[in-house]
Amino acid sequence: MKGIVLAGGRGTRLYPSTKAVSKQLLTIYDKPLIYYPLSTLMLAGIKEVLIISTAEDTPCFQRLLGDGTQLGMEISYAVQDVPRGLADAFLIGEDFIGKENVCLVLGDNFFYGTDITLILNKAVHRTDGATIFGCLVKNPQDFGVLELDERGTVLSIEEKPQNPKSNYVVPGLYFYDNHVVEIAKSVTPSARGELEITSINNAYLALGKLHVELFGRGITWLDTGSPSSLLKAATFVETVQVNTGYYIACLEEIAWRRGFISKEAMITLGESLKMTEYGQYLLSYRGAHTYD
Ligand code: DAU
Repeated sequence: MKGIVLAGGRGTRLYPSTKAVSKQLLTIYDKPLIYYPLSTLMLAGIKEVLIISTAEDTPCFQRLLGDGTQLGMEISYAVQDVPRGLADAFLIGEDFIGKENVCLVLGDNFFYGTDITLILNKAVHRTDGATIFGCLVKNPQDFGVLELDERGTVLSIEEKPQNPKSNYVVPGLYFYDNHVVEIAKSVTPSARGELEITSINNAYLALGKLHVELFGRGITWLDTGSPSSLLKAATFVETVQVNTGYYIACLEEIAWRRGFISKEAMITLGESLKMTEYGQYLLSYRGAHTYD
């Protein structure tokens, strides 16, 4: 399975913070925002990743992550010249996807929880159709909203409806079979002028091939669309890291634990960051036994 991080857009809702820098490069506590969605793909076992961003921001992502070799990955880059919508990822990424299935994660979405690996594994191994997720929120009108019957079966998905039919919304993590490329080609712009991911999900629903997994209490999903949600995410990361002693979205650690790189390679990466707590965290694994 291939992975795409969609990290473009103008970030206007966060101006002036994002006037000169990509939203996905803003810091969430101790690391750039893009580390969090990228870590989700890595936890799903995905090694080949395409990062889609603007022409101005792409060199910054390249400087940050390179070609991914250091993490045992293959990271490539593509430019989206105009923010045409989330479904555009599959048109830009057509050659990259090739004949494989693909997971799309939005560059500003944050997922955390002990159940996450289990949930990702299930989605990766479902080779036919699409898997999306549902999360309970208080402001459903800001998202793609699920309409569910009393048994939890999805009846429809509406993008940012004025009168939401439920409080369950679709977070920015989507698993698709290879048909997504053809489906994306048939999507037409919505009233707000975007190629909506919701149109793709509704197409799979119409085919009877849309699987929706509702996140329970075990998963925290944070959208980072406003200054206060960025602060909330940063506080969350600090609290978890300080209290559990385990880092969230430490890419080098995940690469090692997932078997993408050796422990020695991870320690070497830690050496280059040893002036930071992040680097010291990696170095703390030197010679240490791990029991988890
Ligand atoms: O966060 C989950 C929500 O994401 C879903 O519930 C909605 O169904 C989905 O449409 C999307 O809504 P948003 O309004 O939050 O999407 P936004 O325009 O903020 O874009 C999400 C990320 O994708 C952001 O990091 C910018 C990037 N992006 C967005 C567009 C439209 C691109 O790179 N290119 C684009 O063309």
